[in-house]
Amino acid sequence: MGLESDVDIAPATGRLGVLLPGMGAVGTTFIAGVLAIRKGLAAPIGSLTQMGTIRLGKRSEDNAPRIADYVPLAGLDDLVFGGWDVFPDDAYAAASRAGVLDRHLLEQLGEELRAIQPMPAVFEQSYVKNLHSDNVKTGTSKMDLAEQLVDDIRRFSDENGCARLVAVWCGSTEVYREPTAVHQSLEAFEQGLRDSHPDIAPSQIYAWALLSQGIPMANGAPNLSLDIPCMLELARRNDVPVTGKDFKTGQTLMKTILAPGFKARMLGVEGWYSTNILGNRDGEILDDPESFKSKEMSKLGVLDTIFQPETYPELYGDMTHVVRINYYPPRGDNKEGWDNIDIFGWLGYKMQIKIDFLCRDSILAAPLVLDLALFLDLAKRAGLSGIQEWLSFYWKSPAHPQGVYPEHDLFIQLTKLKNTLRHLKGDDLITHLGAEYYD
Ligand SMILES: NC(=O)c1ccc[n+]([C@@H]2O[C@H](COP(=O)([O-])OP(=O)(O)OC[C@H]3O[C@@H](n4cnc5c(N)ncnc54)[C@H](O)[C@@H]3O)[C@@H](O)[C@H]2O)c1
Repeated sequence: MGLESDVDIAPATGRLGVLLPGMGAVGTTFIAGVLAIRKGLAAPIGSLTQMGTIRLGKRSEDNAPRIADYVPLAGLDDLVFGGWDVFPDDAYAAASRAGVLDRHLLEQLGEELRAIQPMPAVFEQSYVKNLHSDNVKTGTSKMDLAEQLVDDIRRFSDENGCARLVAVWCGSTEVYREPTAVHQSLEAFEQGLRDSHPDIAPSQIYAWALLSQGIPMANGAPNLSLDIPCMLELARRNDVPVTGKDFKTGQTLMKTILAPGFKARMLGVEGWYSTNILGNRDGEILDDPESFKSKEMSKLGVLDTIFQPETYPELYGDMTHVVRINYYPPRGDNKEGWDNIDIFGWLGYKMQIKIDFLCRDSILAAPLVLDLALFLDLAKRAGLSGIQEWLSFYWKSPAHPQGVYPEHDLFIQLTKLKNTLRHLKGDDLITHLGAEYYD
């Protein structure tokens, strides 16, 4: 991570291009949301960069500036949006079809949304089985497709006068795959692109195109894209910050809020059963068992790391953790997530907790897209490259160094994020020791 203190952070002058591979429900809710906030039509609820504050110094000093005033983040007025999609719909049509935001709001943003047309996608049916459309590039090899993406990126940047670019994958969840030999080094991967190696997924082609241009990409889905040795090598070579994957929004957000509390009180957990009904296109894609497997792996990892069953076998050693997603069209984007948690306390006496979270998937994810775009741009201007653990806060699967477990506890993640900002600015870290109040 190479984290120096009190670093020179280049100012956020000029336009920041935000590129989205995937302009579906999440992507368009993010874009329309920023446009609405810019017009003063709505507030950026759920966004730490826009609403969060950061305490500096002692509690008695009453000094807690807004994060956006403390570190030099790109302003919302400086963002320009672009992206790729398998469907040719512009951002207005895609947002209307997604049905997340109400028509009255979309009408007020219509002109700007219609101007955002997706570029043809790099897509391969075998990686997303339940998706069929034709706004797709053709090429002589996967390297040819990657070079077409590089051309798109350069053209977008020139046409929009961008000073800098960042990307957030808001595309569908690809099928579950383990890394193979082609992912083990940059040389092998680039040869694989030339040979159109079948193990190279579309999302990896975007990742290569972006990282090769020094552009950071966050991966909102659970598929294997950046968490492979070849991409980490490319990121190091081109000084690009990388972070985790799969937005932490609904049920997993609740898990990483609750589980640290149970563990803090040494309450045991015998079982945690999670099920969802979801009716948007994401739900349809996840109806394919191979795409669901990517999601399941990402969702299951969280509890084990928080509960540490090897350290606390009497409390968590026999825990059953089950996650289900059921595609149920009538609900659209308004997911319902149920959790049944079987816990036990003093002398092993059993208790149960039930959660019924009536959430809106894209409303929870959109502010994360904004924060990740702004923080990755900040990281790049601060000279940070490689794995950025301080952005674990946003992910179901945070990036982490080999041999170190990922940090899933939401509150430790937030402390880590804020302390990283203090460190970059050369301010004292907040340790919560508090001894100074009793001198
Ligand atoms: N909403 C949430 O709370 C949440 C949380 C975690 C992860 N995610 C993930 O975020 C992603 C987006 O979710 P969504 O609800 O917007 O889904 P969506 O289906 O509405 O949108 C995804 C879009 O990506 C496009 N796409 C697929 N493959 C592509 C490719 N190779 N290139 C370009 N475009 C491509 C699809 O055509 C579609 O328009 C999904 O992978 C989802 O699993 C969402």
